[in-house]
Amino acid sequence: MNLIPITSPRFLPSEMLTTGINWQQLFGNPNPLAFEIGCGTGDFVTQMAQLHPDWNFIAADYYNKGCLKTCKRIDKADLENVRVVREEARDFMERCIPRTSLRAVIINCPDPWPKKRHRKRRLVNAEFVTYLSEFMQSGADFFFATDFDDYGLDVAQFMPELAGFENALAPDLYRHELSGYPLSKYMLKFIGEGKQIYFVHYRKR
Ligand SMILES: C[S@@+](CC[C@H](N)C(=O)[O-])C[C@H]1O[C@@H](n2cnc3c(N)ncnc32)[C@H](O)[C@@H]1O
Repeated sequence: MNLIPITSPRFLPSEMLTTGINWQQLFGNPNPLAFEIGCGTGDFVTQMAQLHPDWNFIAADYYNKGCLKTCKRIDKADLENVRVVREEARDFMERCIPRTSLRAVIINCPDPWPKKRHRKRRLVNAEFVTYLSEFMQSGADFFFATDFDDYGLDVAQFMPELAGFENALAPDLYRHELSGYPLSKYMLKFIGEGKQIYFVHYRKR
């Protein structure tokens, strides 16, 4: 496959992504690590990294053009607290993210797989969030957002059943607005189409 090369200093090529990668050394500081799965074109992580200059962000997507655009955006904003990886999220975590190291996990508008027979392909389900929690430190945030009613309600309903998490939006299971949380490219697109976003926010105990 011919991939457009990504030359940004904020892009981490796969040969750097080995077990035991030292994130503290790589970012040059011991700030908490936040991980965005499926960063798309980087609109969200650029805003979030500006809002949280004291967090380090790893933005992952297996879509090359998305990584390229994300890098252009963060280079333009001159953000030292973001690195981009062109990786399948689960493979990458298994290899490069130490257990109990993440301050936040963010998943915005994952592919909804709208057809009933494809629902099993959805990234976010109880099993996956349980797996993610292994990588989260105590107090870490889990943010999920979707425009897809059925996906939003599903996540909102299984989250309270998961041991080890508390609902940061209680008593609401989800909200359609989340103050202080930037809007991603897909969120803006869906809002423009008159849809509502489901925001879910939990904290690891
Ligand atoms: C619908 S787009 C949303 C992009 C962005 N989060 C937004 O809200 O604008 C979903 C993105 O997730 C990426 N993606 C889906 N599954 C992934 C996985 N397992 N690992 C890494 N990226 C993934 C896709 O390549 C795509 O760019």
